[in-house]
This record gives sequence, C-alpha cells and structure tokens, in this order.
Amino acid sequence: MTTTEASAPGKIILFGEHAVVYGQPAIAAPVSQVRARAWVADADAAASAGADADSAVCIHLTNLDYHYTLSEAPADDPFAAAIRLLQQEARLESLPSLSITIHSDIPIASGLGSGAATAAALLRALALHLGLSDFAGDAQVSRLAFAVEQLHHGTPSGIDNTVVAYEKPVYFVRQQPENRIEPFTIARSLSLLIADTGVSSSTKTVVGDVRRQWQAEPARFDALFARCGQIADQARQAIEAGDIAQVGALMNQNQELLRQMTVSSPALERLIAAALSAGAIGAKLSGAGRGGNMIALINEVAAPPVRAALLSAGARAVLASIIGA
Ligand code: MEV
Repeated sequence: MTTTEASAPGKIILFGEHAVVYGQPAIAAPVSQVRARAWVADADAAASAGADADSAVCIHLTNLDYHYTLSEAPADDPFAAAIRLLQQEARLESLPSLSITIHSDIPIASGLGSGAATAAALLRALALHLGLSDFAGDAQVSRLAFAVEQLHHGTPSGIDNTVVAYEKPVYFVRQQPENRIEPFTIARSLSLLIADTGVSSSTKTVVGDVRRQWQAEPARFDALFARCGQIADQARQAIEAGDIAQVGALMNQNQELLRQMTVSSPALERLIAAALSAGAIGAKLSGAGRGGNMIALINEVAAPPVRAALLSAGARAVLASIIGA
C-alpha cells in the first residue's frame, strides 16, 4: 500500500500584517522547523463496501486523537472543505477509499499559520496521491489553500497560504487580477527569536475587529495601513542591502502602528519590552496579534540573554529561526 506524504512549514509575518489585507505590501517568511504533515494512503475498499463514497474517506487528526469520515465531517470542517475543493476542481466524480492522516507541530491560533499549513500539506499530499500533478505545484496548492482560508477567515489577504506553499521568504501585495508575489535577496541573514505568549488568538476575530475600526475611521486607518506599506518597502530595501540595524528600527516602527490598530496586547508588550531591553535590535508582534507570537531580531551573540529575558517575561516557548541562511 503506497502512502503519499507532504508537509508545509509554519510562517511569520516580518512586516505589514493587517495592512496587507487592504492592499499594502507585506513581507513574510517560512519557519521550517515547525511543520504540518499529511499522509494519504489507499484504504481497504472492502471494509466500506456498500457505504457511500464519502464514508470511505477517513480523516485522522492525530493531535486531537479525532477520527471521522468525510460524510460525518461538520459543515465548517477545513479538511473536508479542502478535500471537496480538490475533488471539484479536478472534476472527480467520486474519491477512492482513502485514509488521510494529519499532524501538525505548529501551535494553533498563535499567528504561525497553522491553518494555512495544514491545508497546504493535505492538498499537496492528496493531489500527489491521486496523480493530479497539475494540482500539486506551489501555485495551485497556494490557490486552493487560500480558498479554504476564505471559508474560515472571511477576508484573508493570501499571504499565509503563499508563504507556506512556496516555502520561501516573500514580498507580497494583494491585488487583482493576480497577487504580486516576489522572492527577494537577503544580503545578510536575519536571526530571529520567535516567542509565544501562550495566549490564543483568532485571526478571523482580530481581522474583523480591525475592519470595524477601519469602517468607523477610514481616513485614520487608511493612513496607518499606508505607513505600514511604506515600512514594508523600506524593509525590503534594507534586507536586500544587508542593513540589519535598519531592519530592526523598522520592526519597532511597525509595532507602533500595530499598537495604534489596537492589535497588540499586554502579554505581547511584555515580551517585546523584555527582548529590547536584553539587546534585541527590533521586536514586534507577528500575525494577527492580541496574543500569539512575537518576533525579535538579534545578533547571534545576544541570543542567550534575549531568550532568557523572553522566558522570564512569560514566553511559553521560544524558537530560533534564521531567515536567508
Ligand atoms: C495573518 O497571518 C496576517 C493578517 O494580515 C491576516 C491576513 O493577511 O490574512 C493579520
């Protein structure tokens, strides 16, 4: 019995979260050491003989020790949505008997892109297993993962599915008819510590809340978003020039704008202040905010004291990540 495996990384937003939903540029990077994985295998057709085809597709979520068939999936189940979407797009009348296993070590609701990564891993493994190579490429996986995200997050920008499907740092602009997705040069690698507040945060809720504030005060929020976009552009130039001090300064400026959007939180601020006073070059929240993870840009020598400061300020976990290594 052949099993097909695919995986996708976690992600961080380096610059431009929230503003990216409104068409401003943003920069994101994969975090490869935390991953979502999916395995797809042919199942024993005899065991489900007589049942409808959807009952012959079993989904195993190992993190939750939760097992169900496609026909039992609740209406808002993202994995069932991904499977049905691929089936529709590939015009498959029915699916064969399948056993689909999904496991992720990306913390959920923490700003590290676990939803996009699990969808991307599942879509790629399933497309490869079914011999649908046209649907297994980065662009197709990203497009379908975006459609799954839309079902759950309302108005995603598309940056999360893009960075996890391509697994490359990207400069991203949401636009019609096609998003601008540009890999860029990283002249000097960026050393980051990624610290988890341990506070879970729903991207959908926070993005919806920012939207309400924008509707109430469009001019003020448009100006905040535009400034975030300028910072993302300046950051790209600084990263391409290897100007680490400037990258850090721009992270701090971006964080100030995120505070004004009310998406920071006491736990995030505690970790940001701890990182900066222990020698980080810049620090900001990453992702939707109000909880989840923050990122600190460091010199390698400052890694031990900054990590210790983050842990003593209450970080639940600290990951090290080098972008452009
Ligand atoms: C979430 O990782 C980033 C947000 O900008 C939402 C989005 O871009 O879809 C907050």
